[in-house]
This record gives sequence, C-alpha cells and structure tokens, in this order.
Amino acid sequence: MVEQYPHLAFQVHEKSLANKTILVTGAGAGIGKQAALVYAQSGAEVILLGRTVSKLEAVYDEIIALKASSDSVKQPSIVPLDLHGAKASDYDGLTGIIEDQYKKLDGILLNASVLGNLCPFEQIKESEYDEVMQTNVKSHFLLVQSMLGLLKRTKLASVIFTTSSVGRQGRAFWGGYAISKFATEGMMQVLADEHKNSLVRFNCINPGATRTDMRAKAYPGEDPKALKTPAQIMAAYVYLMSDISRGITGQSLDCQPM
Ligand SMILES: NC(=O)c1ccc[n+]([C@@H]2O[C@H](COP(=O)([O-])OP(=O)(O)OC[C@H]3O[C@@H](n4cnc5c(N)ncnc54)[C@H](OP(=O)(O)O)[C@@H]3O)[C@@H](O)[C@H]2O)c1
Repeated sequence: MVEQYPHLAFQVHEKSLANKTILVTGAGAGIGKQAALVYAQSGAEVILLGRTVSKLEAVYDEIIALKASSDSVKQPSIVPLDLHGAKASDYDGLTGIIEDQYKKLDGILLNASVLGNLCPFEQIKESEYDEVMQTNVKSHFLLVQSMLGLLKRTKLASVIFTTSSVGRQGRAFWGGYAISKFATEGMMQVLADEHKNSLVRFNCINPGATRTDMRAKAYPGEDPKALKTPAQIMAAYVYLMSDISRGITGQSLDCQPM
C-alpha cells in the first residue's frame, strides 16, 4: 500500500513545506481552504486567492491564530480575484506583486472550480458552458502562463491541478464540468511533457468524493457524514507540494483510490 500510494502514506509535519511560497486558488472554502491551512501548518507562506473576500479573511484569521502557537506558521496574504472575469493583465499584475513581495514562487494549487448545472448535453446553456470553461480551464492557462517564469527561477517548483473522476471517464449529465476536467488533465500533461527536463513539476490530484458545498450541490440527497472531510485527504496535497515528491511529474493521483 505504502509503495503503491506513497502520497497517501505521507506524514505531514510542521516543516514539510518550510521556506516555500505557495499560491492556493479557491482558498476561501472547501478543499482549498483546508489545503491553505495545512500548507500554513507545514511551514509555507500561503497566498490565499479567491473571489469572496470575507471567506479569505476568515482563513487568514485562522492561520494567524495558528501562528500564535507555532513559530513555523508564517503570515499569509490575500489576493481577491474572480477567475471568471480575470484577464491576462490581472494575472501579470499578480505575478508582479508576488515577485516584489516574495521574490519567488515554489508552488501553485489550482483548486478553484465551478460545477455549473448538471443537465442533459442538449440543455447546457452557452453562457454556463463559458463560465465553467473560463473558471476551470482558461483561468489556469492564463495564470500558469503568467507565472511560469517565476516558477522556473525557483529551485524546485510544483504545480498541482485539480481533476475529477469525470475528467477521466465522461459521465451523462456532467457535460461542461466533465469536459473542463478532461482539459485540466490535458493541460497538466502538456506542461509536464514540455518541462520534463526542468525542476518545475506538474501533476493532477483527484480528491474523490469529499464533504464540501460543491459535492452537496452535485449530490443533494447524499448523507455528507458518509464522505471524507477535506482534512482527511490532505496527505496527497502536501506530498505533491513538498520536495519529497521530486521527480514526480505528469501524474494524476487519487486521494481516495477505489
Ligand atoms: N468535493 C468533491 O467531492 C470533489 C470531487 C472531485 C473534484 N473536486 C474538485 O476539487 C476542487 C475543490 O472543490 P470543492 O469541493 O472544495 O468546491 P467548493 O467547496 O465549491 O469550493 C470551490 C472554491 O473555488 C472558489 N471559486 C469558485 N469560482 C471561483 C472564481 N470564479 N474565482 C475565484 N474563486 C472561485 C470558491 O470561492 P467562493 O467560496 O467564494 O465561491 C471556493 O473557494 C474543485 O476543483 C473541484 O472540481 C471536488
């Protein structure tokens, strides 16, 4: 089990991500919030990106409270940005701010996504399809393109995309979302292949069924208590961000293997 799934057996500790600066998208809620907290507890300087400032401020406050009881927790920063409306110039502005403030970027967790409406293909509205593809795919393209130069100047850098089982095997009624996750896997593979001789790594994580608002929207009749919480799936998120997974690139890892 450990040999087959080292990312699941990884023991997170307070220095797992020491001296790393990590950008987390969708850091205000769900899995992204938990990843931001765990990254901070593992010693990283975390940049919290999201569209709802009050949620980001609540995560910021939680990290500051952790900092009060541990010297290894570093002060985070907040970046309010709506990935749906953001343009290339917004990402370039953000890259410039990170470069000025931190001088480097060691990792990006591309976590923010929208589900859209689950419905028959014929009923998908163009505007909804565009929102899903803009938020889940094009924003990643623009963000990574803007920040690649900064990542390449870092000793070892890791970019984690977030996929889903419907991004590997299409499923009825999951239209735009499923298509966006196939594109996510494709983007990760293109980047990993282009950078196979560099120190920048690109991988996907599939969290599997996890107790969040998105999951509740997709499966309203389900008992959330039957699902893993975001806190229970964090080993893979820290493993892929840490130097211990050096050399792993172009992979799509499951947090909850079948
Ligand atoms: N939960 C699962 O069972 C599951 C399974 C497979 C894959 N995933 C994937 O895991 C990732 C996290 O999902 P989750 O379940 O944690 O979802 P969630 O609870 O809905 O959280 C999504 C996060 O993304 C942010 N976000 C959405 N649209 C945004 C935009 N336009 N600009 C900036 N931020 C935006 C949200 O911000 P607001 O809170 O401000 O809206 C929220 O912080 C997603 O990529 C999802 O596809 C989840």
